[in-house]
Amino acid sequence: MKVLVVGGGGREHAICWKLAQSPQVTGLWCAPGNGGIADVAQCVDIAATDVEAMVRWAGENAMDFVVVAPDDPLALGMVDAMEASGIPAFGPTADAAIIEASKVFSKGLMENYHIPTARYRAFTQMEQALAYVEEQGAPIVVKADGLALGKGVVVAQSVQEARQAVREMMADKKFGQAGTRLVIEECMTGPEVTVLAFCDGEHLCCMPSSQDHKRAYDGNRGPNTGGMGAISPSPNYTPEVARQCMEQIFLPTVAALKAEGRPFRGVLYFGLMLTAEGPKVVEYNARFGDPECQAVLSLLESDLLDILLACRNGTLDRLDIRWKQQASCCLVLASGGYPLSYQKGYPISGLERAGETAVVFHAGTRRDEQGRLVTNGGRVLGVTATGADLDAAIDAAYAAAAHISFQDMHFRRDIGRV
Ligand code: AMP
Ligand code: GLY
Repeated sequence: MKVLVVGGGGREHAICWKLAQSPQVTGLWCAPGNGGIADVAQCVDIAATDVEAMVRWAGENAMDFVVVAPDDPLALGMVDAMEASGIPAFGPTADAAIIEASKVFSKGLMENYHIPTARYRAFTQMEQALAYVEEQGAPIVVKADGLALGKGVVVAQSVQEARQAVREMMADKKFGQAGTRLVIEECMTGPEVTVLAFCDGEHLCCMPSSQDHKRAYDGNRGPNTGGMGAISPSPNYTPEVARQCMEQIFLPTVAALKAEGRPFRGVLYFGLMLTAEGPKVVEYNARFGDPECQAVLSLLESDLLDILLACRNGTLDRLDIRWKQQASCCLVLASGGYPLSYQKGYPISGLERAGETAVVFHAGTRRDEQGRLVTNGGRVLGVTATGADLDAAIDAAYAAAAHISFQDMHFRRDIGRV
């Protein structure tokens, strides 16, 4: 089969790396891809959000299957457009991807179907939002309704900070259209766990749990990022917690989407908080998490293509998906200054040595005019290692990363330790 993967970050590198191992894949392309993806797939210079160009290219080049990985093209309806032109595609339709693209929608869904989550209210008027913040007090969480690169969430420790967040989103339009509606919700506390699940519209199959590290600096301090590292499985996700999540959250969510006429086919991302009152949903995403994907797919034994096809075809219940009984760690090496401002174009060294004991997924790299690999984004690499247990996996990821360097390289020293 000729397969096209849409996207160009560490997540897409991990997906391409795994698909390239499938004997059924006879050709692999990635658009736009990056410097590392080019080692396993042919990169195609089309932006991930350019639905029209992507569909045209996939048709002209006779792709048998298209895997849409990032949130934006899913929300824009790229899967719908591929299917409408006769190209089978993996990922939710825009109708179902709205579970990530609109927090007002997802909070409403959870309310209507009694799925545990933080208490909330939605607002379109700034004065009302400000008044609600005063009334509720701090800490309190302010979220832009739409997609904001994972940065449209402010966990405010004071009323003043919350008011400022409301103003920045609604008056200053810091996140553009994403901020014209807001959700303001109760601040929950407890360990966070990610569970990714393959879904085929009707059935769901959970992957091993994982844990992201969203803050830029050690000790979970500093600004929120796309994710600075991930481990799998999460030590907090006990069999009892897993049972509660399945009963109260996972199955009800899949059933709710189906009942709403928005059957979910793709990867459903459950961002969970294990509160004193039980597990609650922090957020849903309509795709693999990044960097969780790198850690989790490192543990997959089965053929990923079979699974993605089963999700698309509604036959997930017929598959027996196998995982290594091991642990994994993905350590993100970022550009100094990320997630604020940073420089690009620095040469990267040490990848070969690191690759002897870990898989180095590329997030933001490209080849320059001389063919050297250089930095090309905030998150640059995801050094991913497996081990018999979490300690072994974490140690292996750090040992491999020690070989790599580029100017102003920044990474957390405590992935998997907090
Ligand atoms: P989100 O983009 O919705 O995942 O939010 C980003 C991060 O903000 C989450 O990973 C949590 O750490 C934090 N967060 C979001 N909502 C809440 C909440 N209601 N209570 C506490 N922390 C939250
Ligand atoms: N790692 C969080 C996300 O992908 O949204």
